[in-house]
Amino acid sequence: MSPKSQADQKEYPPLEHVPFHVGIIMDGNGRWAQARGLPRLAGHQAGTDNLRRILRATVEFGIKILTIYAFSTENWGRPESEVSGLMRLMERMIDRELSELHAQGVQIRHIGRSDHVPERMLEKIQHALDVTKDNQHLILNVAFNYGGRKELVDAVRAIVADGVAPEAIDEALIDRYLYTAGLPDADLIIRTSGEMRVSNFLIWQGAYAEYYVTPTFWPDFDKDELYKALVAFDRRERRFGVLS
Ligand code: FPP
Repeated sequence: MSPKSQADQKEYPPLEHVPFHVGIIMDGNGRWAQARGLPRLAGHQAGTDNLRRILRATVEFGIKILTIYAFSTENWGRPESEVSGLMRLMERMIDRELSELHAQGVQIRHIGRSDHVPERMLEKIQHALDVTKDNQHLILNVAFNYGGRKELVDAVRAIVADGVAPEAIDEALIDRYLYTAGLPDADLIIRTSGEMRVSNFLIWQGAYAEYYVTPTFWPDFDKDELYKALVAFDRRERRFGVLS
């Protein structure tokens, strides 16, 4: 048996509580590349390849919603060559992976703004959303051109534009105006590369999420690492502000 198929066949002890909604801050692509004397884009390429593997593992472990932080509203400030390289990688990922993701029953959603995004990219995203909209196996929220504060700004603007009365505003109503409307909050948020920051990711939906930080850079975060994060989640006691 090849090492790859051995890894595919590996048995993982069952977990008592599998998080329904997992968010991942896929950090450390640049440092992964730097440590190998490679350009930063090689790290993003390796990160994209890893995303493919982790998507498969996510379905296998029974996670129902995965939200990935692919590109923040702040990432436009990176050098133009890195930004355009990232756009190219994402376009290529849609071109190459869409049919397999569709076959796996993955429903792709976009959370984030559309401004600044090249027209061709927007068309590709829309095509991916249209093709997969009825799939039920896994919801993949791609946080692209996303910022948690901007999401709240957009929600407030829409609430005001709809003429909602102040006394009608409660948490459930705000939930319905977020990009993630209709989806439950994140249960577990994973951040790779050791940084202890939220970085404007799911700041509303992560209010009661369990956080898990690993020093592993994103391109090396494999199925075993994901399982470790799920075990850590399984051992946590979630109290939601009340006593156990
Ligand atoms: C953070 O690493 C990573 C990003 C800003 C981009 C994440 C994007 C991918 C993994 C590409 C795949 C996404 C899709 C949807 C195809 P960093 O560059 O901040 O790393 P550093 O902190 O080590 O510099």
